[in-house]
Amino acid sequence: MQNTFSKHSRSFLRIADFETEVLNSLLDRAFYWKNQPRPHETPARGKVLGMLFEKPSTRTRISFEAAMYQLGGNVSFMAGRDLQIGRGEPLKDTARVLSRYIDCLAVRTYGQSVVEELAAWADIPVINALSDLYHPCQILSDIMTVMEHKGRDVKELTIAWVGDGNNMANSWIELAVRMGFRLQLACPSGYEPDSKVMGWALGQLKGSRIVITHDPMEAVKGADVINTDVWASMGQEAEAEKRKTLFAPYQINERLLSNAASNAIVLHCLPAHREEEITEEVLEGPRSVVWEQAENKMHVHKAILEWAMGI
Ligand code: CP
Ligand code: NVA
Repeated sequence: MQNTFSKHSRSFLRIADFETEVLNSLLDRAFYWKNQPRPHETPARGKVLGMLFEKPSTRTRISFEAAMYQLGGNVSFMAGRDLQIGRGEPLKDTARVLSRYIDCLAVRTYGQSVVEELAAWADIPVINALSDLYHPCQILSDIMTVMEHKGRDVKELTIAWVGDGNNMANSWIELAVRMGFRLQLACPSGYEPDSKVMGWALGQLKGSRIVITHDPMEAVKGADVINTDVWASMGQEAEAEKRKTLFAPYQINERLLSNAASNAIVLHCLPAHREEEITEEVLEGPRSVVWEQAENKMHVHKAILEWAMGI
């Protein structure tokens, strides 16, 4: 099942490539690392993580860097524009050259095809650190945060997604298939999740555990977890103003939360735009777990790095 597009058997490109057991064992390791506040183990000593980023990043970049350093390894950060790929060097050449220097490559880019092409040619594991289609590392951190609050068995939970049917929504859909929770998404018409991802998910599911509506009140009804994300993702800046009007009914606010379970928690992968997709009151309120969610990225990244490099 693993690594549909990858030459190396330990690439991490999308959630659908993994059996539930593998995802759970990654989460076991993330919890292990979270309980080791000052790790003395340095399994990555002598290893180098390359990070090829074509989009900005605060959390993913720094949590991967901190994770790698704390595991005893080193990091080489490469802004896409500084590499020869910016001047037309083929991805397949870049992948084969980098494989001679580094032990693992984390990529943040636009097209999922870029991640897949690098993985298809690299002799080292490639990690998807966000593409336009997926954000698989983030989703593992998110479910870890859910488990901390709701328990490890997530099958009985209802998780709501309110907002854009973007890379995060696509990864939530794949995770819902693998973990078995109910997923209720509310997106404006024309902004639903990727149709191929949804088609795959519906093909995998026996009963209908994933529902898409245009009504945010319906999506959060009885939900244990409520999720949102920016209305305009990186690369969609030109659409931001149009989206603000269109997405206004999809804001996470106290009125919307009153339709969820009374102990519902609120997730946001950040960065947040206050008073757009989420109010300041909710983001800074008692149901918000966004700071733990951000912290958990580092623990999850340690688990992914360990698994990918076989250390
Ligand atoms: N959540 C997330 O991926 O944040 P960054 O864009 O800051 O990495
Ligand atoms: N959907 C957002 C996630 C940012 C972490 C984006 O792609 O910009």
